[in-house]
Amino acid sequence: MSIDQDTLARDGSSVAGVGLLGAGVVGSQVARVILDPDNGPEHNVDLNGILVRDINRAREGVPSELLTTDPEQVLSDDRNNIIVEVMGGEEPARSYMAAAMQAGKHVVTANKEALAKHGDELVGLAVDNGVTLSYEASVGGGIPVLAVIQDSLSANRIESIRAIINGTTNYILSSMEEGGSSFGDALAEAQELGYAEADPTADVDAHDAMYKLSILARLAFGASAHPDAIYREGIRNIEAKDLRYAGALGFTIKLLAIARNGAAGVRCRVHPALVPADVPMAKVNGVLNAVELNGDLLGPLWLQGRGAGAGPTASAVMGDVLRIAKGMLANDGNDKSAIGGLGGKNTANGPSIVDMDDLQVRYYVRLAAIDRFGVLAKIANVFGEAHISIASVLQFDADDERGLADLVIMTHPAREANMQEAAARLRQLDVVASLENLIRVEDYDTV
Ligand SMILES: NC(=O)c1ccc[n+]([C@@H]2O[C@H](COP(=O)([O-])OP(=O)(O)OC[C@H]3O[C@@H](n4cnc5c(N)ncnc54)[C@H](OP(=O)(O)O)[C@@H]3O)[C@@H](O)[C@H]2O)c1
Repeated sequence: MSIDQDTLARDGSSVAGVGLLGAGVVGSQVARVILDPDNGPEHNVDLNGILVRDINRAREGVPSELLTTDPEQVLSDDRNNIIVEVMGGEEPARSYMAAAMQAGKHVVTANKEALAKHGDELVGLAVDNGVTLSYEASVGGGIPVLAVIQDSLSANRIESIRAIINGTTNYILSSMEEGGSSFGDALAEAQELGYAEADPTADVDAHDAMYKLSILARLAFGASAHPDAIYREGIRNIEAKDLRYAGALGFTIKLLAIARNGAAGVRCRVHPALVPADVPMAKVNGVLNAVELNGDLLGPLWLQGRGAGAGPTASAVMGDVLRIAKGMLANDGNDKSAIGGLGGKNTANGPSIVDMDDLQVRYYVRLAAIDRFGVLAKIANVFGEAHISIASVLQFDADDERGLADLVIMTHPAREANMQEAAARLRQLDVVASLENLIRVEDYDTV
């Protein structure tokens, strides 16, 4: 990595002193980048101390004399005007970031959970204390999506966001589609390759994508999209046969994070979705991330890249650090220059968050139905009474032993509340053994 000449301090000394909270996957890489002698002796960022839990753990390229287990040694060191938080988790990360800003230090973080849950408080602290809070690495790893929303698209009213922002689930779904493997086998493979944690809950149950969508919605719409207000559904229920049937119908299945700013307010949802096989989103495979933004002036914008890993995440973290350092330099070392950072909009006056009831989408409904005469009429009646129009019914695999067949019903656009009502009735129907899956379709005629 080379550091832009513009970021150099005029007298050759450093303007930015960094205190690092955490030296795991991301923090160790950030430390190596700051300490890399190839960046030139004159680069303007010093690393003064690193907080960890276990001082004896080996960390390649990270000098042990910089390590401490005492947070005060990093937070209260006067040489540090930028605190980089890459510990993760809600606490103590939130408290440390708050303390740093209250002490007049800029904060750079990759922590989606703390930001999603405490964004209003943390952004408020940045504004009140005249410091920068930057968190590019918290969404999309190395993809500079937050800077694009905050800076490049600032003249636009952003109307919608549609994204694949969890590489683990995208890897699992891609591998289920390509190899026909079960969810469990694809998850085990992802764990073996280091793409999924031993406890995969945050990824497969879509908490991680929900946190990231919360951050995106705050920045793009000024909406206080607390995770509690976001509809969330993970991928545990997707079977290889869903991917096969979806493929036969011209779709693939992706875990999408979607936020739209409509007349009634902002709706945020994270769930598996049928995506038409011929659109770019359908071709985002493996651990890649992609974000589509739609601005009123620009129209659609597509960003794709590596959404996790030491290198991409350190790229985003260091981009934030060097931007702050540049701001200080432009102001003759005045480290209160880059106020607000990605804090941006005041969510107190932002749009309200709306629930799922009035969402209008098409649905894929997979039923295990009793394989006999007259069944379809009973099922169709349930849809009709819920004011849902059926577009097609296909029978796939039959289980002759149990006398069941897989029926896949595609609907025309229907109201979510009506679909949920129909689903509840289908589950009670004597000719339906089980409602196996209900997946929303993401249509691309409306961005
Ligand atoms: N990994 C990625 O690809 C990625 C991508 C985007 C964003 N992020 C975000 O970046 C952050 C860091 O992720 P990571 O993968 O680098 O995590 P990690 O490998 O688990 O590293 C966490 C580091 O923080 C230290 N730490 C944790 N709790 C601590 C505490 N209470 N006191 C002192 N030190 C503590 C750990 O110390 P020890 O080493 O002594 O245990 C470790 O060095 C998270 O917010 C994550 O969501 C990660």
